[in-house]
Amino acid sequence: MSSPDTKAAKLIRKCVIPAAGLGTRFLPATKAVPKEMLPIVDTPTLQYIVEEAVAAGIEDVVVINGRGKSSIEDHFDIGFELETTMRARGKTAEADKLRAIANLVRIVSIRQKEPLGLGHAVLCAKSVIGNEPFGVLLGDDMIDAEEPGIGQLARVYQQHQKAVIALMEVPDSETHMYGIAAGKDLGNGVIQIDHVVEKPKKGTAPSNLAVIGRYVLPPSIFPILENQTTGVGGEIQLTDGLATLQKTEGLLGYKFQGQRYDAGDKVGYLKANIAYALKRPDLRGGLLEYMREVVKTEKP
Ligand code: G1P
Repeated sequence: MSSPDTKAAKLIRKCVIPAAGLGTRFLPATKAVPKEMLPIVDTPTLQYIVEEAVAAGIEDVVVINGRGKSSIEDHFDIGFELETTMRARGKTAEADKLRAIANLVRIVSIRQKEPLGLGHAVLCAKSVIGNEPFGVLLGDDMIDAEEPGIGQLARVYQQHQKAVIALMEVPDSETHMYGIAAGKDLGNGVIQIDHVVEKPKKGTAPSNLAVIGRYVLPPSIFPILENQTTGVGGEIQLTDGLATLQKTEGLLGYKFQGQRYDAGDKVGYLKANIAYALKRPDLRGGLLEYMREVVKTEKP
């Protein structure tokens, strides 16, 4: 893509994708398979996230992973034996598709040795990110949008030179499941945040603007995270670090354009599968036919 938006996003060259979680909500599937490798149709969720970063001009992806997750590295490597066998069988197009995954982007993999929280996972990338602004993309949040989700935030970062996080309105009944931000509407979807809190108790949320897993942050977040005490769930929370950043340097929210799927939730994951399958000409007809049949025959 060559739109001016994408060029702006290119100034963000690196991103972090935390992928060290245990994936307990998807057991037993995630006993031996990383949650990030579960497919949406036929492609691992993590590949969509990496493709979003690449479409926004990001050149280096830091994946924070954990024990038993080496298949993530294998997926973005050259599958030499598989490719050779496929080429020998004349399946050139399929082999080329596999090679394209390995050529997508430079990937650096870092172990988060203990599950100390999202803030700690981002901190693990400090030495690779260095002294420049960077993106963070959470694998549970799939954003289907014309302009890549992280690219939208990078554009806002370029305009305002301030940390920016993705926001989306959620029903009041769901605010306790998210980081929640409140602040002043600056127009064009941009919010100047004056308050951000991780998973507020029911009835205490300062707004219904939920933090969705896309962030563009300055390197000054690292010393903040280094000094961050544990928060909700006994973990070092990224949102708590953002609350400090808001006070020291300011923090923006951006109501991104596009459809978000929560692939970390079972119904959200199934919805994502249906939505992405419906976009595929080879699957759409058969799936629609089945869905019509289900609607006709299933009782509520
Ligand atoms: C994380 C963040 C939370 C954010 C959410 C978005 O929570 O801590 O602030 O709202 O992602 O998906 P998690 O869903 O990992 O518990």
